[in-house]
Amino acid sequence: MRNLIDIVDLSVEEINELIKVAKDIIQNKEKYSHKCDGKKLATLFFEPSTRTRLSFEAAMMELGGNVIGFSEASSSSTAKGESVADTIRTVGCYSDIIAMRHPKEGAPLVASEKSVVPIINAGDGGHHHPTQTLTDLLTIHCEKGRLENLTIGLCGDLKFGRTVHSLITAMARYQNIKFVLISPKELEIPEYVKKEILEKNNIPYVETNDMEEYMNELDILYMTRVQKERFFNEEDYLRLKDYYILNKEKLEKAKEDLCIMHPLPRVNEISVEVDDDKRACYFKQVEYGKYIRMALILKLLEVK
Ligand code: NCD
Repeated sequence: MRNLIDIVDLSVEEINELIKVAKDIIQNKEKYSHKCDGKKLATLFFEPSTRTRLSFEAAMMELGGNVIGFSEASSSSTAKGESVADTIRTVGCYSDIIAMRHPKEGAPLVASEKSVVPIINAGDGGHHHPTQTLTDLLTIHCEKGRLENLTIGLCGDLKFGRTVHSLITAMARYQNIKFVLISPKELEIPEYVKKEILEKNNIPYVETNDMEEYMNELDILYMTRVQKERFFNEEDYLRLKDYYILNKEKLEKAKEDLCIMHPLPRVNEISVEVDDDKRACYFKQVEYGKYIRMALILKLLEVK
């Protein structure tokens, strides 16, 4: 039985295959509409979500399956003091696959050790978010036509932003990738990502707090929200939350074929005037997320 806890649980070949299947689903939706008849997905969300939870649910429904679950810990037995391990054992009796989001780093890994059905990590604290990364890879593949030879700017909360950590981990396995890490000092990428992923794999990167400094070199600009819920004090959050706001003026030096991404939700970091720019890909990204999750569910349930 396979789980997806960290993006490196999938090989590059497996990711390529998921991208291929997702593209086939986009072209031939009918062919997949009964692949999961009679199957159930449980979505256990101990933290807020719009896209991740609903795209998992929509994905399972479009495959012909059904969905059960909860969207806040307070409405589950967690509020009575039940452990994650016991919740998972219970839900495994009712479902064929589980997507789980939890504020504690490592909770989905612990869950996977107790589970009798596949577990998908739908975000664990400030750690990882592998299905957002699959979404991002499909988006890059569809929009740029490649996953190699790219200069990727990551901007905003690189410290707590789990989507950033998973995306760097994933992209480090492709050829000729360069990173421009744009953040205020307080929200720099964690040391372990620098040492264990970037430096260990000899991936070139620069760090800057100036969003425009390398704008003309970027193929991808990945904006992120300052992760309010992971701050220890409100004052720091208020000081940093509007540090970067991407607008038309800041894009003046950008390449014509720049791909602007954001895992969403957006708070203030991309001005709405950018939404009409042909380089804005963040709502397309939302849609790609559903298709790659369909491909992932098929893989983990071993549906042919
Ligand atoms: C991200 C997350 O939950 O980490 N959202 C998402 O899943 N699309 C990004 C965020 O919340 O800022």
